[in-house]
Amino acid sequence: MKTFKKILFWSLVGFAIIQFIPTDKVNSPVDHKVNFIDVKKTPEKISGLIKGACYDCHSNETVYPKYAYIAPVSWSVKSHVNAGREHLNFSVWETYNEDLKESMMNKSIQAIQNKTMPMPGYIVYHKEANLSEAERVLLIKYFEEMLKSETD
Ligand code: HEC
Repeated sequence: MKTFKKILFWSLVGFAIIQFIPTDKVNSPVDHKVNFIDVKKTPEKISGLIKGACYDCHSNETVYPKYAYIAPVSWSVKSHVNAGREHLNFSVWETYNEDLKESMMNKSIQAIQNKTMPMPGYIVYHKEANLSEAERVLLIKYFEEMLKSETD
């Protein structure tokens, strides 16, 4: 029992200490001239879906949930956001060249179809990202339209 108490005590101390290791949650400002949904003048219904399902990890408009402030969860959240932005950042869409835009639209269509995006773990805590079949079809159709207009 003594050992158990010691372990518990030091675990709590450790947990308290890691709270002081900060994660950077400051979003870069959004330039509307290069932001996907502004440039595309995406209809509200679709932009709502993209913002609700993708923008937390693939834009500079991340809204961090409360649990994202508690280490070590905060580190995991931040690493997903960093990796998401690195691969695809809708906030800087217009800075991408044509090849990258085409590839990102294709990959997004595939990811939505295969349900690898939005990330399954994320959907559990974000109802608005839990896209219905109809919403997935809408998004895919919209991205297909964009793909056509990009390659014209
Ligand atoms: C919870 C965070 C999160 C959400 C929400 C999310 N993604 Fe991702 N996405 C990632 C991460 C992290 C990666 C990096 C690759 C990986 O780890 O799977 C990624 C990778 C991708 C890629 C692959 C890019 C490449 O270079 O291969 C595409 C495309 C993509 N996401 C599209 C989307 C779309 C479209 C949505 C919304 C329907 C979405 N994602 C929602 C985190 C997220």
